[in-house]
Amino acid sequence: MVREFVFNLKKKNEIFNGESHWKAPSNIALIKYWGKKSNQIPINPSLSFALKNCYTQTKVSFVQSDNSNLDFDFFFEGNRKKSFENKLKKYFKNIIIYCSYLSKFKLKIESSNSFPHSSGIASSASSYCALSLCIMDIEKKIDPSIDNQRFLRKASFLARLGSGSACRSTKGSYSMWGKSNVFPMASNLFSIEYPEKVNEIFNTLCDTILIVDKQKKKFSSTDGHMLMQNHPFSIARISQAKDNLLLIKNALELGDLKLFIKVVETEALSLHSMMMTSDPQFILMKPNTLKIIDEIWEYRKKTKSNVCFTLDAGANVH
Ligand code: DP6
Repeated sequence: MVREFVFNLKKKNEIFNGESHWKAPSNIALIKYWGKKSNQIPINPSLSFALKNCYTQTKVSFVQSDNSNLDFDFFFEGNRKKSFENKLKKYFKNIIIYCSYLSKFKLKIESSNSFPHSSGIASSASSYCALSLCIMDIEKKIDPSIDNQRFLRKASFLARLGSGSACRSTKGSYSMWGKSNVFPMASNLFSIEYPEKVNEIFNTLCDTILIVDKQKKKFSSTDGHMLMQNHPFSIARISQAKDNLLLIKNALELGDLKLFIKVVETEALSLHSMMMTSDPQFILMKPNTLKIIDEIWEYRKKTKSNVCFTLDAGANVH
């Protein structure tokens, strides 16, 4: 238990009925989080940027209930979604020690995405983040003295307990999560806004997603993370991620696009190399993923364009 984030209801705290609304973006990692210890602690630091047009909007209506356990219904784009309710039960079980007030409520959670469902675009980051921000709204209604920094840090902390990458969706365009010597102020528990000045050349960085495969993945990220525990290359991978974090810091500061491209593409291919060399091994890329990568490389060679690619845990190309 992380004491810093426990909220204990005091006698004088009033419990309200009400509604909270939040919108949170998805994010794409430039330095990849791959591998975790218990309680969603990452084995290496990661850095992402927000996909501001790919977001989840969530409304949480909360009413006092006589039950002593948290009770909730979940609706996705207007329809009750039982499959996600099971995931949410696990999430609430993880966060209840930090948000004990939740057991006094019945929640109605209504969520929708700005991007098409079942398109292979991961929605867990934006969904858990939007929901965690709504929960922090409830906490703030109970204790208005919570300041903005604590609000966002705890929202990120709670989102992490839903899905690791979700903690990087609370704030800012570039977000960092995970301890390293490169950024000693970063934390394994929540993300922080990228603390350095980013060269203006990166203000116009733009992500386009090429949908290669809409199918549900055969192997979830959560399963993949677990396989890093006994992975023959895990030590080398952790050290590569830290080295790449330092390199991308330099690239972002100096506006060095060549270095940026090299690091981002290496990270994408290393991520998939880890999948291909774990036990059991698995491959999430599809023939068209490779075809697109090849075309990007050809196009870049021909035109000297600065287009580059990254991949998440799937076949689609960013
Ligand atoms: C490849 O955050 O989806 O996208 O913590 O188990 O929910 P869980 O995993 P998740 O993993 C994301 C992995 C990644 C890289 C990244 O986003 O950093």
